[in-house]
Amino acid sequence: MSDALVDAEAPAAPPPPPSITIDGRRIEVKPGELLIAAAERGGTYIPRFCYHPRMEPVGMCRMCLVQVDGPRGPALVVSCMQPVADGMVVSTEAPNVKKAQEGVLEFLLVNHPLDCPVCDKGGECPLQDQTISNGPGESRFVEEKRHYEKPIAISELVQLDRERCILCDRCTRFAKDVAGDPLIHFTNRGGNTQVETFPNHPFASYFSGNTVQICPVGALTASPYRFKARPWDLEEVESTCTSCSVGCRVTVQSSRNQLLRYQGVDSDPVNWGWLCDKGRFDFEAVNSDSRLGSPRLRRGGELVEVGWSEALDAAGALIARAIEQGGPTSVAVIGGARGTNEDAYAWAKLAKGVIGTDHVDAQLGDGLPVGVLTGLPQATIDEACQATTVVLLAPDLKEELPVLYLRLRDAAEHRRVRIVELSSMASGLTPYTWATLRHRPGEQSALVRAILGNGDKNVVGASGEQLDAVRAQLDAGPVVVVVGRTSLAESPDFAVDATSALRDALPNATFLPVLRRGNVRGALLAGLTPGLLPGFTARVEPSAALTAAWSTVPDDDGLDTTAILEAAAAGRIRCLILLGADPASDHPNRELARRALAGAGSVIAIDTFLTASSQHADVVLAAAGYGEKSGTTTNLEGRVSAVSAKVSPIGTARSDWAIAADLAERLGADLGFDELVDVQTELRAVVAALAHVTDEALVSAPDGVLAGGPATSRTLQGKHVEPPLANAYAYRLTVSRTLYDAGLGVARSHSLAGLARGSALHLHPTDAERLGVASGTEVKVVVVADDPDRVRTAVMTLVADADVARGVAWAPFNQPGDTVGDLLDGSVVVDVRVETL
Ligand code: SF4
Ligand code: SF4
Ligand code: FES
Repeated sequence: MSDALVDAEAPAAPPPPPSITIDGRRIEVKPGELLIAAAERGGTYIPRFCYHPRMEPVGMCRMCLVQVDGPRGPALVVSCMQPVADGMVVSTEAPNVKKAQEGVLEFLLVNHPLDCPVCDKGGECPLQDQTISNGPGESRFVEEKRHYEKPIAISELVQLDRERCILCDRCTRFAKDVAGDPLIHFTNRGGNTQVETFPNHPFASYFSGNTVQICPVGALTASPYRFKARPWDLEEVESTCTSCSVGCRVTVQSSRNQLLRYQGVDSDPVNWGWLCDKGRFDFEAVNSDSRLGSPRLRRGGELVEVGWSEALDAAGALIARAIEQGGPTSVAVIGGARGTNEDAYAWAKLAKGVIGTDHVDAQLGDGLPVGVLTGLPQATIDEACQATTVVLLAPDLKEELPVLYLRLRDAAEHRRVRIVELSSMASGLTPYTWATLRHRPGEQSALVRAILGNGDKNVVGASGEQLDAVRAQLDAGPVVVVVGRTSLAESPDFAVDATSALRDALPNATFLPVLRRGNVRGALLAGLTPGLLPGFTARVEPSAALTAAWSTVPDDDGLDTTAILEAAAAGRIRCLILLGADPASDHPNRELARRALAGAGSVIAIDTFLTASSQHADVVLAAAGYGEKSGTTTNLEGRVSAVSAKVSPIGTARSDWAIAADLAERLGADLGFDELVDVQTELRAVVAALAHVTDEALVSAPDGVLAGGPATSRTLQGKHVEPPLANAYAYRLTVSRTLYDAGLGVARSHSLAGLARGSALHLHPTDAERLGVASGTEVKVVVVADDPDRVRTAVMTLVADADVARGVAWAPFNQPGDTVGDLLDGSVVVDVRVETL
């Protein structure tokens, strides 16, 4: 064979990757990358104010000027606006670069007040830092600086000191481009330019705290942190927010053993550095004066403070007596989704492996069957944001999982993902959807079947062309279905049925289940669900590892939370254990929860506060809160990440897992857990899906590690349920949660508590007009039912709301002064009549 032939057949060598030279050093770059980002990746930090890697560049501040050699010689270039080009030669240290930076800083400081000693940003201020590292050393300006009234509160949470603003456009860009809340903008011209809200429209964004974090000076400050500490007083650890199941990465900062601030960490697969305001500011609840710092025991009708030994003895005796009198199944455990994976596992072991009851549920009757986690091919947030189509069969993500809303909004606005929303009312994502099809509550599976061409096209409120267009879009490429519990006033079977219809019709679709509570997925995986052992293994098929670690497993499948409450109300539960759960506020059937608390033989609560439920307990065991304990949590994707203790628990409060270990001891058993590491070692041995989630794995992947497991199973069984025909004079009720409510994190954070919108019944303006009732008027809401026992009434304030479809009534759940919870009774749908008072 000739050399020429060999050369012709050899594969062509790949071209060398593009590269640039910065300050004499060659670095490889990615095509299209901005020069400022490429330089940083290569180890050269170019000073900047307006550039932010998660936002489009605007070139406002000119601080990032560098010198680039071009055909006409060296020129100053704005590096945050300049894409790299192969062979580019860049200098960040040339004398004219230095001169330009000094000039920019000198101009910025003409009006900047230099009140660093009293400014919250002092010590962590890019303007301060870059003035020292790149500034001229002294100013030539001696004139009087401008003054404004200071500060002005642009919202309940954010204050603005206008004279400190350097007009970098970060906050205004974030509000408009990232959050979709363009409520702040620049006004006036020249030296008078300033950030402003619109008259009478505060910066009421769920994401306002991010502007404080990214403001490069102290112009924007957060009311909950303002004047609380200086950066050098703060200590911090990286952790994961567990206020909802998105699992945003945060730094938890404290001073003198008190939590003072959370800051977003840029986790590429999850939160991109953003936090919602609830997750950012609910540290105030951890510091609340009303926290439980020690156990309580009921004596003479009152809950009195006692020591741990006495409280644990009493709790152990209540459990032992219940077992003795009614067997293991007379004990039930509700909750566990607010704790860590380790807390959940220890409690699963105590309940199922020591007590022997399977009446255990981490969901509160407001979630979805565990089959949506085990019986559907799972998607990640990133996969949803890269799909061709995202189908929303979910609650309003802006209200319930705010940073997932930000990610999907970005995907729709900037990544050409088409969102198809199937819902009974408008959501935060509606303006960004490609198609929105409305259905009456309970008719989502009819709508899905009509789209898929195997249902009656006349039963839904969409035209044949719209249905055909959506069907064609579902065939256009990868589909991710986001599935969650859209309404607490309807059966979850509707969502499951619609989801299984999509699963059957779209063999390549994947699913992102959006259960809301912080660690609900981890709690279920750890075993806090009836019928399953840790790792979602069947109760009757315990693994060898579990058999080695547990002395027993329950004899029968247990009850879910609603069935536990029914059993308790009927007097069949002798000891009801509330593990960070408040069913009297949180369960959709509030009346049932109240009867259950009254009917249970005894109640033991493990909680951080005395709640509507725990105040009925016989024993209350004080639990450590967020930031006070370490462990791991699992987000809605199944991503396991670390949560870290930063302060010591209030009083003598203890971690849930340690309480479980002590209670086991009172019952004559040994969980084998003396330290957290003992729980983690056993959890990883017993739950195969977590075997690879080691400490080392979490250190090398701080964004988290996806749990392995039955992610590709397609076994979810939908149950077809026909909603009853609607009465023409009734409104079908939909009830969902909003970000700010009467839950502990909001209600016990004084900066957030006032933001809850309050209880109300929202009707379409035409429906309100037909009733002849003006917005703000109190009305009587009556459940329409043939069975007189189901007829319940509530007085609510009516709100005319164009986001609600005609014939539908919407009410936010668990608001201060809530009355809608009194209308719900677990029926498949709830129809209500609205009467004037
Ligand atoms: Fe930039 Fe801060 Fe001014 Fe907003 S307030 S434009 S973030 S300096
Ligand atoms: Fe916390 Fe959820 Fe808000 Fe993220 S979206 S900051 S996890 S509450
Ligand atoms: Fe480039 Fe502001 S960082 S112009």
